[in-house]
Amino acid sequence: MDKSTIVCKCEEINIDEIETALKAGACQFDDIKRLTRCGMGPCQSKVCTNMVREIIAAYTGEPMEHIEYPKNRMPIKITRLGVLVANQETSSVVSVFKESVSEVDTNG
Ligand code: FES
Repeated sequence: MDKSTIVCKCEEINIDEIETALKAGACQFDDIKRLTRCGMGPCQSKVCTNMVREIIAAYTGEPMEHIEYPKNRMPIKITRLGVLVANQETSSVVSVFKESVSEVDTNG
């Protein structure tokens, strides 16, 4: 595959940039994320995770099962701003988490 192929569409990171990060010592997705911003775009790595993991697996020779997924941070789901600003007592990390969890429960 052409090294200029874009893997992370949100941050426009290509295969060559990921391999450069691997050569610089990156071992997992989060290392590459810190070095390149890959996975930090609006989709929060939903699109690029497995492509990057495949590149890491091919580069390191490790099986895919040994390549970690990127760590997710709150909010882990799209969150309505109203949850954050509506009421000081309910606008907390806990309420954001509850909304995220309830969306997961209702959406499957
Ligand atoms: S495609 Fe990588 S963050 Fe969206």
